[in-house]
Amino acid sequence: MAIFLTGSTGYIGAHVAANLLESHGASLNLLIRGKDAQEAARRLWNAMQLHLDFPRFYEHLQTRIRIFPGDLTTSQFGLNRDDYDRLIHTTDSVIHCAASLNRKSEKSCLNVNLRGTLEVVQLARRSHYYHGLRRFSDVSTVAVAGKRSNEIVTEDRAIDWERSDYDPYARTKKFGEHMIRELLPDVQITIFRPSIVLGDSRHPETTQFDMVKAFVFLAGLKALPFRSTDKIDIVNVDFVADAIATLHQETDPRYDTYHLSSGRESQTFREVTAALAAAQQKRGPIFLPFLEKPFSGVVNGLAGRKTSLSYGASLMKVFMPYLVWNTVFDNTRVTSELGRKPVPFSTYGYGLLKFSTENNFAYNYKPWPAASAGGSAA
Ligand SMILES: NC(=O)c1ccc[n+]([C@@H]2O[C@H](COP(=O)([O-])OP(=O)(O)OC[C@H]3O[C@@H](n4cnc5c(N)ncnc54)[C@H](OP(=O)(O)O)[C@@H]3O)[C@@H](O)[C@H]2O)c1
Repeated sequence: MAIFLTGSTGYIGAHVAANLLESHGASLNLLIRGKDAQEAARRLWNAMQLHLDFPRFYEHLQTRIRIFPGDLTTSQFGLNRDDYDRLIHTTDSVIHCAASLNRKSEKSCLNVNLRGTLEVVQLARRSHYYHGLRRFSDVSTVAVAGKRSNEIVTEDRAIDWERSDYDPYARTKKFGEHMIRELLPDVQITIFRPSIVLGDSRHPETTQFDMVKAFVFLAGLKALPFRSTDKIDIVNVDFVADAIATLHQETDPRYDTYHLSSGRESQTFREVTAALAAAQQKRGPIFLPFLEKPFSGVVNGLAGRKTSLSYGASLMKVFMPYLVWNTVFDNTRVTSELGRKPVPFSTYGYGLLKFSTENNFAYNYKPWPAASAGGSAA
């Protein structure tokens, strides 16, 4: 029997997969986009090489990973009948980590985060019907809390249906949580809501650059349009993945929902920028909060044009609401249950930004060694 994990080629999903394989000895059924198992295995190798060398990865691929090449937005993931049946009968728990994070595309969020999640729920219902499902874990987001300002949000108070959302991503993830709870009433469900996941505290390398680009853009400004004492809830990906893997594998976690966040210990803009400036032996920025509205206007204007700055500006536009809301997410549940805390961004952020700028915001992927065959297919 195996854990059915979606999103293993993504940033968080690959960390979760590596953690489950290396620290928990788990077997995995992985849904991966690709025209066949070989292409999917190659895409998985790209995602996993931050964590494992090729021989170790290949050993897992041969012994504890079964790849199902498929797409969330196709009926029964586009698998043939035998493979879909095999997936049902070999899955004893689910971690649904795949999503569209494209905050600008309602269509993409609708298709992946709602239709796709419904497909995963259907699979879970079928596995549960035949042999019982141990747990369904959903990787959601703190963005489900909708529009907020100057708050510390606890898990039980995050969802408020009367509140507006910032974007289609937040809206569809919120409904995704609801759908899972409604459609799997007799399955143990665990909802994980990470805050801004940025960097691995153990090393500077990353394969995900969008949020890093927004930070590099901000770090380059001499004046920031924020209040220096506002807090920003950033969490390291290694903490997030460890929490998901550990709590998913626990027999009886204490809660059904966890914020994976820095919570009350989130750092202020001043703390974060001072650390980045000190690492570069530069002066920190000045803070001019009254510039927030004009700054947003410039960012929105640039985002709509075709200039060299428009990509950075369009990233800033989507992240801006999450930078100025001065809202953090209480993490007492996860820190008390795990006995560990996230690592402050100021202690590892400079390495992440340096790695990203020096490598032009691209990861130099190692190719699949010529002598090895593809992965074990479904
Ligand atoms: N990153 C953050 O700061 C953050 C914060 C809070 C919550 N989260 C949540 O964490 C989860 C993972 O996020 P991430 O940052 O790791 O995202 P990511 O790097 O963009 O990974 C997304 C994953 O979803 C897969 N996927 C997307 N559409 C699919 C489809 N139609 N069929 C099958 N797979 C599909 C992607 O596969 P491909 O490789 O084929 O594209 C990829 O493996 C998401 O649920 C997200 O909502 C993230």
